[in-house]
Amino acid sequence: MLSYQHAYHAGNLADVHKHALLATALARLTEKPKPLNYIETHAGRGLYDLASAEVRKTGEAAQGIARAEAAGWLAPQHPLGAALAAVRAHHGAGCYPGSPLIAAHFLRPGDSAHLAELHPAEHAALAQVARFARLHAEDGFAVANALIPPTPRRGMLLIDPSYEIKADYDRLPGWIARMAHKWNVGVIALWYPILQDSRHRPMAESLAAAHPGALRSEVRFPPARPGHGMVGSGMFVINPPFGLADEAARLATLFATL
Ligand SMILES: C[S@@+](CC[C@H](N)C(=O)[O-])C[C@H]1O[C@@H](n2cnc3c(N)ncnc32)[C@H](O)[C@@H]1O
Repeated sequence: MLSYQHAYHAGNLADVHKHALLATALARLTEKPKPLNYIETHAGRGLYDLASAEVRKTGEAAQGIARAEAAGWLAPQHPLGAALAAVRAHHGAGCYPGSPLIAAHFLRPGDSAHLAELHPAEHAALAQVARFARLHAEDGFAVANALIPPTPRRGMLLIDPSYEIKADYDRLPGWIARMAHKWNVGVIALWYPILQDSRHRPMAESLAAAHPGALRSEVRFPPARPGHGMVGSGMFVINPPFGLADEAARLATLFATL
């Protein structure tokens, strides 16, 4: 059963953190003229309308991307700033890109992309905007497992689950260890929520112990609503591209001002 819909949360502070790191990683990876593979296990619908009833209902984008841009967090030359400008120029000023369209901004004609999205309505919406990629209406973990290691071997995997199944926290460290073993040069990025009740912590600590060279970027922010459980955002990146740790440090400083 899939009940999570990212439309309510698009452009929130967790998206700003996740997408700033994703865009920075892809900007670095595409500096070299060698082809790469981009794989996503949980793609979402790819494009969100910030004027939609869902976005307005939660107000999370107003506290997220709107606030970040107003405070000057994303200069035009920042990779996420550049991706946002390109997507707005194409799809309209009131939209916000999901991770697939951020990736599309950086991918070049010789690169390949595979996006998995299981929810039928989200998948149908994704198909309208992600013609650059091979789409999979299947379980993203199974899709990635079948594709990894890709050819050519350069590339990035983004794992962005909705954590509707509590068992995700338990199974992710083992699953990621298997992917990292099969694809030792792949950039493997996992997003996770920082939760008031610390449910995420055993997973994050187990990942950090298993992958000592990885980047663990965690930022905190006020809950979107009083009593809301999510109080921050985490990205765990195995084989982080050069410069990603600097961006993580910059984001940590900015989020600390909230
Ligand atoms: C957090 S959202 C993705 C947001 C997107 N990565 C972004 O940053 O714009 C998670 C998505 O995963 C989808 N989903 C849930 N379980 C899935 C599974 N097992 N395989 C593929 N997609 C799944 C949900 O329908 C939802 O659209």
